[in-house]
Amino acid sequence: MEHLYDKLQILEPESEPLGRIERMKAMEGPLLSWYGDHARILPWRENPHPYRVWISEIMLQQTRVEAVKPYFARFMEAFPDVKALAQAPEELLLKRWEGLGYYNRARNLKKAAGIMMEQWEGRLPASYGELKKLPGIGSYTAGAIASIAYGLRVPAVDGNVLRVISRILASREDILKASVKRQMEEDLKTIMPKERPGDFNQGLIEIGAVVCVPNGQPKCGECPLFSLCLARKEGLLDSIPYKTPKKPRRQEKRTVLILESEGKIAIEKRPDTGLLASLYQFPNVEGRLTEEEVAEFLTEQGGRVERMEAAGEAKHIFSHVEWHMEGYHIFLEGTLPKKYLFVSRHEIRTKYPLPNAFSAYIKRINGES
Ligand code: ADE
Ligand code: SF4
Repeated sequence: MEHLYDKLQILEPESEPLGRIERMKAMEGPLLSWYGDHARILPWRENPHPYRVWISEIMLQQTRVEAVKPYFARFMEAFPDVKALAQAPEELLLKRWEGLGYYNRARNLKKAAGIMMEQWEGRLPASYGELKKLPGIGSYTAGAIASIAYGLRVPAVDGNVLRVISRILASREDILKASVKRQMEEDLKTIMPKERPGDFNQGLIEIGAVVCVPNGQPKCGECPLFSLCLARKEGLLDSIPYKTPKKPRRQEKRTVLILESEGKIAIEKRPDTGLLASLYQFPNVEGRLTEEEVAEFLTEQGGRVERMEAAGEAKHIFSHVEWHMEGYHIFLEGTLPKKYLFVSRHEIRTKYPLPNAFSAYIKRINGES
């Protein structure tokens, strides 16, 4: 497909190759003009209040825009400002976060809100350095808030920006290295415009999200940086960005027990450190237990099994581990003496935060599968 940017390429051949910094500086014009025309309309862009920018950037860290939107709306309703967030009961906060994953993000939001109440009169500090001191706010988030909400001239380098710029520069350096990110931040600091620094940062992020996409072929024909892009010119799109290969995830088999007695279901709180800390779960054990072994496991704890049904298999992928689960729905006579909380389906829906890992079994008890 021929496109405007192909024509630009022909009209403006690079007579002399640009250096790294000059090439980065040359992004500004096409980037800002493209962003002005193509920025998606998003709730936190329509009203870029610092609190809203902060919450949205934290949610967007590991989650796509479309998935974030409904969470963002519900979160703003429940916790409209720093004070409401600082005072939020942790369990309610986690319940609102349920399904987004990486729950430490929510816990850090509350901690940071507490500090803002104590040190910053319930506001976000309008300073890159002070923002960066807060729990859960690293250089990317500090830069995003400072530039988007306060118009400060600081870069916001996330995975999108690392991908786009390493392609523009045809840099084969490992974008997972902290030193590579630091260098990119340094260089961006020197070339960023004084006007519209927030648009400049969001333009780069937006290209990374919708044009120079993380999975699949980049849409170079739609890219405002087409004529600057060396990786495209040199046919290096398959090898740039370079990332050190990740260790394969640990594969874990688990047996999940839905214990039901008189319409109530057993849940338990997970330990307050490690994977899915402090969230609730259905009782589960490592390994695959047969029906006989499940019955034995329950009998040992004083449970009387009335009936047992297979509840199917399910898989959940965390960052470092995969759970391959098999479930049993067990109807008990009476409850079990210790450790489990027998709660209603309504309470599971509205009160206790249960991570997505168990969603197949939550659907089952709600009659949705
Ligand atoms: N991903 C991370 N930050 C974003 C933003 N501000 N807009 C859209 N997508 C993003
Ligand atoms: Fe990415 Fe292609 Fe644009 Fe280069 S031209 S930044 S590879 S979309």
